[in-house]
Order: sequence, then C-alpha cells, then structure tokens
Amino acid sequence: MTDKEMRAACAIGWPIKQSKSPIIHGYWIERYGINGEYRLEAVPPEDFPAFITNLPAHGYVGCNVTIPHKLVALANSEPDDRARAVGAANALWIDGDRLRSTNTDVEGFVGSLDASAPGWDENLESAVVCGAGGAGRAVVFGLLERGVACVHLVNRTPSRAQALREAFGPRVHPATWEDLPRVLDGAGLIANATSLGMTGNPDVEWDLAPMRDDAVAADVVYAPLKTSLLVAAERRGFGTSDGLGMLLHQAVRGFELWFGVRPEVTTELRALVERALAKS
Ligand code: ATR
Repeated sequence: MTDKEMRAACAIGWPIKQSKSPIIHGYWIERYGINGEYRLEAVPPEDFPAFITNLPAHGYVGCNVTIPHKLVALANSEPDDRARAVGAANALWIDGDRLRSTNTDVEGFVGSLDASAPGWDENLESAVVCGAGGAGRAVVFGLLERGVACVHLVNRTPSRAQALREAFGPRVHPATWEDLPRVLDGAGLIANATSLGMTGNPDVEWDLAPMRDDAVAADVVYAPLKTSLLVAAERRGFGTSDGLGMLLHQAVRGFELWFGVRPEVTTELRALVERALAKS
C-alpha cells in the first residue's frame, strides 16, 4: 500500500448514530493530513460476524465496535491480553490475513489519568474501584497492569466482583457499598465505573475524607462532565480524570493501528467533542 492509497475505518453498532467517534477521528485525519475516512456502519447483530470477517471487502482496514457487538467481536477475532482480560473487544484491525482485536478502554482509563494527573501511580498501593461491569473490568485491569498492589472492588452484586477476583487474582478484593468508608481509608485512587451519577440515574453521596491527601479520582461517566465524585474530589484538592478524557484517550490506539500515526488528545479536540455532547 502506498501513502497515497485511501484508508478507511468505521464504528459499528446497532444503533450507531449517537457515536462521537467520527468527530474524534475526523479531527485527527485532518490534523495529520491523512488520506483517510472514518464512517459509521449500522449493522444488526445477525449480520455482524459476516461484516467483520469480511472487513477488507467492505473497504476497511479496521473498526471500532460498540453495543451490542463487543462480545461477538471478541469471539470472531484474535484478541490481545487486554481484550481477553476485559472479556470484550472494541477495536479491530487487519494484520496481514489476520483479524486482531484489543480493548481500548484500558488505555483510555490510564491514558486520561496520565494526561490529567501525571504521576498518579507513583506509590499507589491501594485503590478503590466502584463497578464490576465491562467498564469496571477495564479499569481494574489497567490498575493491575500498572502494578497497583491492592484494588478494592465495590459492587452492588457481589458475584460480579467475585468473578473479577477469580479472573484477575488476589490483588482484587471484592467489597460492598457498605464497606466503602473502610476501603477508602488510606486509598490513593477512587474510580467510578458504574452508571451511578449519570444524568437520569441515581447518584452517590461521596465522602472522600478518609482518603490520602494526594489521592486522585476518575469517573467513566461523561454526562454530566463534572460528576458528584469529581466535585467531591476537587473539594479535597485531588487530581481528577473525567469520562470525556477517557473517551478521547481510548480512541488513540485505534487511530494509530489504522492510520499509522499516534495522535495527540488536544484541548481543541476536547472542546470540539464537549460542544457536540452539549448538543446531544
Ligand atoms: P458497563 O459495561 O458500562 O460497565 P454494566 O455491565 O451494565 O455496564 O455495569 C454497570 C455497573 O453499574 C455495574 O457495576 C452495576 O452494578 P451491578 O453489577 O450490581 O448491576 C452498576 N450499577 C448500575 N446501576 C446501579 C445502581 N442503581 N446501584 C448500584 N450499582 C449500579
């Protein structure tokens, strides 16, 4: 393939028109002067396996996949360690005659923290993660990859937290919401990976007083941008990472895989997506 050949990637979902990914990838395509396109593909579940196993025939070098396709994407591709650990694939790429996959939420979580709270993982021994769904799995895996010794995993349904301990090992400590004050004591990081605090959902009254003074807080929720967790964290003087940061940073790896440039998450890009979110 020469530099002049057009490359295209897409986001596949059912539905898909709500996706902000074209804004992100479109911004980078322009910024780096790439001969490329990023499109949306609404593909129903019954057509999805055939679509991804014939990606080149559809004109694509790779794709993002979202609800409801992430598990089927994993089963129909060659996943890396992150996708296998999280149990879901959300970015796929053609590598010769192989269809490979990864989970970019792990990188989204750690990349956003690296950008907004550099040094967050230095001397971080104990972290608290709320949520044991797909987002929670990505967050826990990211923390374990960075060497965090103890991750307290708070979840309403105990069996889901227990399943993560079984998958990821004894550094994961399942806990309940009643345990929250105890596990926050001396913790250096709190992450919300539940839908609590999202517009229209129930919220949590966060008391971050027991945490270390140099702790950081991260939320996967981006509507609203400033969740009650982040408000409480700012009051304590903590560094923070919001859900929009995670959304932008999770897009970096896919772009790099498809278009060969590792793109930068700029303040201009953030403002662009923020405006789009405010309209939707
Ligand atoms: P995702 O893939 O985005 O993580 P998910 O798998 O539906 O979505 O997980 C949502 C998370 O939010 C779960 O941890 C869920 O707790 P349960 O495992 O007990 O369902 C949590 N969650 C959602 N609504 C909640 C509520 N009202 N109270 C407590 N936890 C809630």
